[in-house]
Amino acid sequence: MTETTRRSVMLGAGGIGVAALLTACGSEGGGTGGGEPAAEAPASTPSGSPVAGKKEALAQTADIPVGGGTVFKDKKIVVTQPKAGEFKAFTSVCTHQGCDVGSVSDGVIVCPCHGSKFAIADGSVTDGPAGRPLEKKEIKVEGGSIVLG
Ligand code: FES
Repeated sequence: MTETTRRSVMLGAGGIGVAALLTACGSEGGGTGGGEPAAEAPASTPSGSPVAGKKEALAQTADIPVGGGTVFKDKKIVVTQPKAGEFKAFTSVCTHQGCDVGSVSDGVIVCPCHGSKFAIADGSVTDGPAGRPLEKKEIKVEGGSIVLG
């Protein structure tokens, strides 16, 4: 009987202690809760932004076939080489309804959505339904690299 009573008292006291701690934590968490997310935010920001300043090469000149071109979908650019050593670049966004052009073959840039074709030399429409040329992009050849100019 005495032991049972002692346990009951201890459990009872422990229960009160836990309740007091939970109450204390709950009230403190509400007051200082803004501090923790703010401490995490700066750590994620630098990793999400690429290092700026230096121009990144779009491609190597050797990667662009003479009389053809290459579509860089992630950069929304098509780089062509109409003649050996002459490089051109255009947006890869089709002027018809905004699809990404898909390939370059037989001297034209081809949009897979509705079949528009654009000349690799100047981006002009060679076959519709697109009615306007692809927008030109300025590029420079630096060494063996092609960079946005
Ligand atoms: S979006 Fe390119 S042909 Fe229609």
